[in-house]
Amino acid sequence: MTEVEGAEAYHEPVMVEEVLEALEGANSGTILDGTLGGGGHAEAMLSRWPDCRVIGVDRDPEAVNAARKRLQPFADRLRVLEMRFDQALDDAQLNQDGLQGALLDLGVSSRQLDADRRGFAFRRGLPLDMRMEGDAGGITAADILNQTNEQELARVFREYGEEPRARGLAGEVTRRRGKSPFGSSDDLVAAFAAVLGRTPRPNEMARVFQALRIVVNQELPVLSQALPRIRDALRPSGVLVVISYHSLEDRIVKTSFRDWSSDCVCPPGLPVCACDQVPQGEPLHRKPRRPSEKEVRMNPRSRSALLRAWRKAA
Ligand SMILES: C[S@@+](CC[C@H](N)C(=O)[O-])C[C@H]1O[C@@H](n2cnc3c(N)ncnc32)[C@H](O)[C@@H]1O
Repeated sequence: MTEVEGAEAYHEPVMVEEVLEALEGANSGTILDGTLGGGGHAEAMLSRWPDCRVIGVDRDPEAVNAARKRLQPFADRLRVLEMRFDQALDDAQLNQDGLQGALLDLGVSSRQLDADRRGFAFRRGLPLDMRMEGDAGGITAADILNQTNEQELARVFREYGEEPRARGLAGEVTRRRGKSPFGSSDDLVAAFAAVLGRTPRPNEMARVFQALRIVVNQELPVLSQALPRIRDALRPSGVLVVISYHSLEDRIVKTSFRDWSSDCVCPPGLPVCACDQVPQGEPLHRKPRRPSEKEVRMNPRSRSALLRAWRKAA
């Protein structure tokens, strides 16, 4: 396998042309790639735009290593930071220089999903881990199942996994862990099967896995806190692009972009506006963009992608 084939196998970047189109105005400035992954989007920017500089960030040490190797030819225009994208916004140089563009391609990479030992995707007999930082991370999915109280577990399954039997599953998990702690995906399958009275289907397991992954990695609060900080770090006319893969993430992005573009964010029902808000910019597209049918055919993992972009006022 050549170096280039290896890099592509890491993760096939999604909606590359749409990302480049949205970030075109940033082609000679500094762009934050907050979710570097295998470096596919970053490589597309660095190779297409010889004057741009990229700050590439990922919380996963394996992604950082893979991207560093892949992007070696562009090392003079690239800074790589191993941390969460919200933490990268504390960087003094980033704040001093400002950003002309930023990209968040949320969720997990194909490499993370395909690595059995990391336990991101549902397959039998795998550890319940799911930490994007790997061993350097905090609590695992097994810890959540073994330590979270029943009511909170039910909320996690319902809100983050849209699981109709959330309460039943939370009750079953808390009963079972008293006898033997959860360690592998088989333990969770067995608990879910007991609630359903049959073997859970892969899509049902995938939803429960998604719920656990969101909590393990604190994905929603990290996104909510990072978005306004990225907006503030953008220079005039700078563009923020976010690709999300489920409705919980997309709702945060959609609401943020709407509020920042609005001249009033007062609660509904106030007789007169009391917020005096000035729009800070505007969305680039009226509706979110989706991958083409051709892209979904070639890369089925792109099918749930939703791209939104927002431009700061000049
Ligand atoms: C969908 S992949 C990105 C793929 C990348 N755009 C490419 O072209 O290869 C998502 C990546 O974002 C990273 N990630 C997710 N949330 C993050 C966060 N809050 N901070 C930093 N990295 C994050 C994951 O570790 C993963 O490597």
